[in-house]
Amino acid sequence: MEILLNPGPVNLSKRVRQALLKPDLCHREIEFSDLQQRIRASLLDIYGLSHADWAAVLITGSGTAAMEAMMVSLLPRVGKVLIIENGVYGERLSRIAEIYNIPFQKLHFGWGEEIQTAAVESALANGITHVALIHHETTTGRLNNMGKITAPCKAANIPVLLDGVSSFAAEAIEFTGWNLQACAATANKCLHGIPGTSFVICRRDALQAAAPGQRSLYLDLNTYVSQQDRGGTPFTQSVQSFYALDEALSEHRDDGGWKARRTQYRTRMQQVREGLEQLGIRALLPVGESSCILNSFHLPENMDYQTLHDGLKARGFIIYAGQGGLVQSIFRIAVMGALTSDDIQRFLNAMREILKTRDN
Ligand SMILES: Cc1ncc(COP(=O)(O)O)c(C=O)c1O
Repeated sequence: MEILLNPGPVNLSKRVRQALLKPDLCHREIEFSDLQQRIRASLLDIYGLSHADWAAVLITGSGTAAMEAMMVSLLPRVGKVLIIENGVYGERLSRIAEIYNIPFQKLHFGWGEEIQTAAVESALANGITHVALIHHETTTGRLNNMGKITAPCKAANIPVLLDGVSSFAAEAIEFTGWNLQACAATANKCLHGIPGTSFVICRRDALQAAAPGQRSLYLDLNTYVSQQDRGGTPFTQSVQSFYALDEALSEHRDDGGWKARRTQYRTRMQQVREGLEQLGIRALLPVGESSCILNSFHLPENMDYQTLHDGLKARGFIIYAGQGGLVQSIFRIAVMGALTSDDIQRFLNAMREILKTRDN
């Protein structure tokens, strides 16, 4: 089987793969209700969130569905969201706002650049009612410094909508400390489930305040939460993906929760960074500014991405290209999923082999 070093979907553990073989199930039956409620509760428990104040809303769709549901369900028609961009996914938030005619203002930084708190602070003076941004910009691997960035939001009591798609379950997320109103995420990245299920964790009071005036049929969080609270679902859910997520959540808990997962990823990423450095391959960002989940690396000299990708694929490893303007200069390595340090060592050996071929 190929080793996936792309940022999701991930290599599944045996127990998660086995869960996919559970019995066929109708989404209108009590067994499905129980499964759904168990998943919703487990998602809140990862960060110790109060079940009275927060709701986990499950959607059948990829991470972008959760981003879009969060934006269209929680941002008012009257008001203005400050969207902070420093990569592809921040720019995707702006695109969603454009499509739904959500009033917004952009605060743009180059891909990989650090978000400057002073710029956030001065932008907030402009009639801003909400802030939306990405936690871990998967474009480059930058882990945005949420404590610093959201300090002025907290001081002015401006709610923050967070895309935690590629950080949820493996990095610290301070729901109250960062003044979060909602966080969008997915089953198939740091949680180690399969693609097909995404979710938004949101404050119940924010949902209630946003209730009037539905703007999307499929992606309205209030439609979901009202039925999910009663054990139902407005639409057919991806039952097998729920089975996998349920098992993945148990595994996450058994492994020690998000902190243990972060430690595990940090160890793997250190092995990757040190190994690549020995081969003369430099990381794009320093460790202190990078996530534990995905890091970007400069392409080796005299080698384009396709050659590197194809050489690694032939040896059983899938890496990820840079996006947009970075396609010619970087490649990305993610360390999520059921990997071992042996897998990483074999990947590093394969890299060494490919570089040797280039030099011969
Ligand atoms: C930060 C972030 N947000 C959103 C997405 C979009 O997720 P999907 O491709 O599952 O729709 C991704 C995907 O990698 C991501 O990394």
